[in-house]
Amino acid sequence: MSVQSAIRRKTAPDIRARKRGEPIVMLTSYHAHTAALVDRHCDVILVGDSLGNVMHGFETTVPVTLDMMILQGAAVMRGSKQALVVVDMPFGSYEASREQAFNSAVRIMKETQCGAVKLEGGIRMTETIAFLSGRGIPVMGHIGLTPQSINTLGSFRAQGRSETDWGPIEDDAKAVADAGAFSVVVEAVAEPLARKITETIAIPTIGIGASAACDGQVLVLEDMLGLSPRTPKFVRRYGDLGPAIEAAIEGYAADVRSRAFPGPEHVYDMKKG
Ligand code: KIV
Repeated sequence: MSVQSAIRRKTAPDIRARKRGEPIVMLTSYHAHTAALVDRHCDVILVGDSLGNVMHGFETTVPVTLDMMILQGAAVMRGSKQALVVVDMPFGSYEASREQAFNSAVRIMKETQCGAVKLEGGIRMTETIAFLSGRGIPVMGHIGLTPQSINTLGSFRAQGRSETDWGPIEDDAKAVADAGAFSVVVEAVAEPLARKITETIAIPTIGIGASAACDGQVLVLEDMLGLSPRTPKFVRRYGDLGPAIEAAIEGYAADVRSRAFPGPEHVYDMKKG
């Protein structure tokens, strides 16, 4: 057996088994290179449709296509070895029917070889989640704030801020778990509600802006690295790479303009050495 094949990738059942266990560490990645870094420290890599905002500068995730997700999902699979890779199903690729969802998910799984897909929505998506899960496609749910619904929600506001609004979100969480999802992202939900959902449902909850009460956490990599122009208030920054990258670019531009840029002799020397 080769060294490579001896490294076993985490699976959806492995993550499902972490309920009330060691917290699940998840980050987004959209490229092979960052995936290799994330892979060393995370249980799950999410190829999120936030790539629409982060990589392409869209205001929302609505314009993201299935082809975009597949291209970046395949890159992340090439860059990673041990984490479970979950690829987001983009807006318009799964909502029309469970058959549409199945066909889109099969393309994602075959063309990227990822281990699971994620889709947004609670009760309204349960038939689809059951259909996919029963046909070999592990599904991660996503409830609370569902960014693909921005045009009906009107804004990216936290959900369930008052206790009177909790009912539908709790119902969504239970429905997604009962339909067979192996875990569920809970986005922008107040701590007491996130805690209640986490204590109630049988699958791991993975919070984003939903407090430490969840079974795991996810952040958008570029947000926590200080690389996104706009970052949600709840994001703790673990780096400030924007200014560091700009300083490097500035140094390069200054070298070029002052003709201090290394010439070909230098490059050939480097190659020999
Ligand atoms: O697309 C994404 O990055 C996500 C996370 C915000 C959970 O869905």
